[in-house]
Amino acid sequence: MSDIADVERHVEQLRRDIRHHNYLYYVENSPDISDREFDALMEELQRLERQYPHLSAADSPTRRVGGEPLDQFESAEHLSPMLSIENTYNEAEVRQFHDRVGRLLGPDERWSYVVEPKIDGVAINLIYRDGSLERAITRGNGVRGDDVTQNVRTVSCIPLTLRAAPDANAELDGALVEIRGEIYMSFEAFDAVNRLRLEREEAAFANPRNATAGSLKLLNPAITARRRLRAFTYEIGYSEALQIPDSHWDRLRWLRRHRCPTNPDAERCDDIQAVIERCRYWEANLKELPYPADGLVVKVDSARRRARLGATSKAPRWLMAYKFAAEQQVSRVREIQVNVGKSGQLTPVAVLEPVRLSGTTVSRASLHNFDELERKDVRVGDYVLVEKAGEIIPQVVKVIVEKRTGGEIPFHAPKRCPSCGEPVSRDPGGVYIRCANPHCPAQRVERITHFASRGAMDIAGLGEALVRQLVEADLARDVGDLYSLNEEDVSALQRMAEKSSGNLMRAIEESKDRELWRLLHGLGIPNVGVHLAQALARSFADLAELRAATPEQLEQIAEVGPVVGKSIAEFFRNEASVRVLDKLIAAGLNTKSVRTEARQASGATGKTFVLTGTLDRHSRAEAARLIGAVGGRVSGSVSASTDYLVVGKNPGSKLRKARELQVEELTEEQLEALLGLTAGGEAP
Ligand code: IVH
Repeated sequence: MSDIADVERHVEQLRRDIRHHNYLYYVENSPDISDREFDALMEELQRLERQYPHLSAADSPTRRVGGEPLDQFESAEHLSPMLSIENTYNEAEVRQFHDRVGRLLGPDERWSYVVEPKIDGVAINLIYRDGSLERAITRGNGVRGDDVTQNVRTVSCIPLTLRAAPDANAELDGALVEIRGEIYMSFEAFDAVNRLRLEREEAAFANPRNATAGSLKLLNPAITARRRLRAFTYEIGYSEALQIPDSHWDRLRWLRRHRCPTNPDAERCDDIQAVIERCRYWEANLKELPYPADGLVVKVDSARRRARLGATSKAPRWLMAYKFAAEQQVSRVREIQVNVGKSGQLTPVAVLEPVRLSGTTVSRASLHNFDELERKDVRVGDYVLVEKAGEIIPQVVKVIVEKRTGGEIPFHAPKRCPSCGEPVSRDPGGVYIRCANPHCPAQRVERITHFASRGAMDIAGLGEALVRQLVEADLARDVGDLYSLNEEDVSALQRMAEKSSGNLMRAIEESKDRELWRLLHGLGIPNVGVHLAQALARSFADLAELRAATPEQLEQIAEVGPVVGKSIAEFFRNEASVRVLDKLIAAGLNTKSVRTEARQASGATGKTFVLTGTLDRHSRAEAARLIGAVGGRVSGSVSASTDYLVVGKNPGSKLRKARELQVEELTEEQLEALLGLTAGGEAP
């Protein structure tokens, strides 16, 4: 492809194809190529845009990975105000709404409705000028909201360009349109985000709405891009120089034709009886949907009628929300237990009489922490209201005080650990009560179980029940002892047949060869989950190098901030951890990172890089990946331990700082040479 005009045509074709496949995938829900084929198209387009930077375009599908982090959001005004919706909670109120519409429209009038699930996400206003996404604004106070355009651009199903057909954009020239919708997270994506957060020992999001709001308000769009947000568009707020149909039902079709995702579960109803039937249907079926919805929205279909109905100061008169209460059940507290986690934190849990709740039987509910328990004043014997937070984790909503008989027993935060009996203490400034005894059997069980778990050292057959026996028999006090167990000891344990003790010994032996990150994760270093364990294993040649690292050196890793850096360094200097590590090393566990074995010697290995400005041939993420692949580290800021500053176009303040500290500067070409990339190899 030598002729530049050919390249240009090819790039345009690729963009059209990618948009088309995105549309089939997100809007029509019927992709006709595999994910792999899609990725191949995307990669080709990225490669060409890198090679021919003058062909890059703001609305290219490659521009979805997230731009530069922001310091804060700017506020922006909606073209027309975003009002709210009046709620109704039963059929009688739905009929009252219909009657009011009838009175306002006058006799002899017939009109229809559209009924749509009410998405429980974050409302968004998308402003398109000449067909291109210009701004995305959150609802805010209804008049002004936050400009979250950069983050919204990473939501793959929101079109960066409206177009009815691949080449027909003329209709949109000179047009201005405000499209309203809701950004949300599917239950599947929500579970995935929370799983990852728990792995990293970060607090889980309570429900998909919080997760969506949190993701949209991230200052770094690259992180938003990974959150798998989705959207449905459902209204046109304002338009100029455009032919928009009068009927809402047809408007939804118009939106779909212009590549906007709309809800496939919306329905047109010709009269109020049909609306009520849909309400009954959804009352039973709403929770089967893959996305979060907390009710229905009932809308008058015709825009002309809507205009005649007008609005109160708060909400339009042409629509209302029919809300279902979150499913709650009453149960009775049989007992309050206190769990001891692997780093000693005490968590109260209510043991309940089993009840059915949103499709599952619930017999335990979290009380989160002792402050919460005290605030809700939950007592043993109390009747309580339970619900699933974000439809997932059951929790106690409140005590039904009227049902108290006086025989309920208040529960007080323990002064001593329920497992080892040692005094407990409250985290300074925190809500957790902690057992600080490193020999506490409950913590030992938690720590060893975690070490053996599938996400860490993956020792088959070594689950919590068996670990508890090992700890009670004093055969294992810490994870290091696992490697000096002998077969007789193990077979003497309850329910341990000869065969299974042999299997366990083999599984323990095999675990010695696990990758370094599994060991690091298994050690239970505070704040180190799978993801960080992998980053640490990538950044250091072996365990010895990591153990010797100072907090400052640890902070050179992008994922590590000052608090985590300090806690990792402290862990490796702690006497008890040193003893355990020495046992593991003596037992012959693998302590080398894969990288040490696989990598080729490179001048970048072990060096710390900082990037500034725009590189011509590599995105930042890519440059970071290339540096990481040969064992270099990329840090976000220049400090005394920076080895190289890679300087692109329009460098920022990092350049000045680097010069002050006399850090060596590299051009993109010099970086490539250092990384051992031959010209014309990785980059064109
Ligand atoms: S129409 C005048 N349709 O509910 C407002 N809103 O509680 C016109 N919502 O802020 C909005 N699903 O964020 C409409 N299918 C749907 C909706 C919906 C969810 C949200 C919207 C609004 C909130 C009001």
